Amino acid sequence: MNKSSKNGEKHRGAFAVGAIKKLARRLVRVRTGQGVGAKVKGPHTVSVVGCGEVVVGDGESLLGGMLREGMQINHFCGGNGSCGTCRVEVEDGLSNLARATTAEVVAGAASEPRKRLACQMRINGPVTVRVRM
Ligand code: FES
Repeated sequence: MNKSSKNGEKHRGAFAVGAIKKLARRLVRVRTGQGVGAKVKGPHTVSVVGCGEVVVGDGESLLGGMLREGMQINHFCGGNGSCGTCRVEVEDGLSNLARATTAEVVAGAASEPRKRLACQMRINGPVTVRVRM
């Protein structure tokens, strides 16, 4: 084995370790609900009927904001948009929501405009929602 092939193996090993670390960090973010949101930029208030208010930043999902604030909501898939357990009904402020994501369309949550997935919802202004129990 020559010196350059040893360096190549060393490179691949370092790349694999880096990729595993990156996946582990992502898994932790998803498990804790942090992976479903992004940096909090422009906070918007969401009234959750029967639970109170949560402040959600631009680019952050409603699920991320609710979990950060300690609110209870089912989220079995960890915010991947695949289980549908985080479904909410929008009672007010529909125009302040970003368009339904592909995951919401696939999950059938977007078949009615007021039914959305909290893990996929991105909010641009005040909204009132009711959590499906
Ligand atoms: S948490 Fe599974 S679809 Fe939202």
